[in-house]
Amino acid sequence: MLLKVENLDKHFGGAVPLHILRDINLELAEREFLALVGPSGAGKTTLLNIISTLDAPTGGRVLIKDVDVHHLGQHALNRFRNRHLGFVFQDDLLLPHLTAMENVALPARISRRPTRQASRRAEELLEQVGLADRLKHRPGELSGGQRQRVNLARALVNEPALLLADEPTARLDQETSRGIVQLLGELNEQLGVTILMVTHERELTDRAGRVVEFLDGRIISDRRTKPVGSASNRKALQPANM
Ligand SMILES: Nc1ncnc2c1ncn2[C@@H]1O[C@H](COP(=O)(O)OP(=O)(O)OP(=O)(O)O)[C@@H](O)[C@H]1O
Ligand SMILES: [Mg+2]
Repeated sequence: MLLKVENLDKHFGGAVPLHILRDINLELAEREFLALVGPSGAGKTTLLNIISTLDAPTGGRVLIKDVDVHHLGQHALNRFRNRHLGFVFQDDLLLPHLTAMENVALPARISRRPTRQASRRAEELLEQVGLADRLKHRPGELSGGQRQRVNLARALVNEPALLLADEPTARLDQETSRGIVQLLGELNEQLGVTILMVTHERELTDRAGRVVEFLDGRIISDRRTKPVGSASNRKALQPANM
């Protein structure tokens, strides 16, 4: 199992103590594409942040590739995240002084890949997300949708085992949003990327093979709508050898 969430709890202290996640148990196999849905305030982002190790649980644990991620030391954790996880969050975290290509290549540089390899891979990914003609643009010179596509390319540069996305299409127009949906579907079906994504978008839930519904910090339904994608057709998005 690629991801196991076991008895996860999250409380927030303060004047009004809040119990946000209540005994969450969730498993995600390789090549699955899971859409997490539920009303505002249900705890979706909190769960994603804990899985991605940006936030710590109050109780329970998260195993990714059998590693208990919240018990790794800071150095090992940074390494683990860099190598195995990709993130696409709503607030784009692109570095403003770097070009699109430099932003995408950054995680590969951090994992000490040679510059030329990292740049080549970044260029390929930017082509795949339709930004071949924006390689040298800085984030301030790109539209919101284009920045989100740069984010996605960056999340994929180290070929993560697990892609975590929090409403990746929330700020995009319908057309761009459809492009991202298409791309995520292809990444899953053709490259076998495992995806866990929070979304309100109908089209995106339709594309996912499994839909988990969240309410008040609990999972209230877990439906599989398609068999786990077989990555038999690995041509269109297959990156060149690195
Ligand atoms: N740092 C924090 N301290 C206290 N409460 C918090 C904190 N972060 C989140 N919350 C509360 O936890 C609840 C769940 O928030 P979360 O962001 O996980 O919801 P969500 O399901 O992602 O909602 P949305 O669809 O609006 O993004 C909210 O009621 C929020 O007020
Ligand atoms: Mg949220």
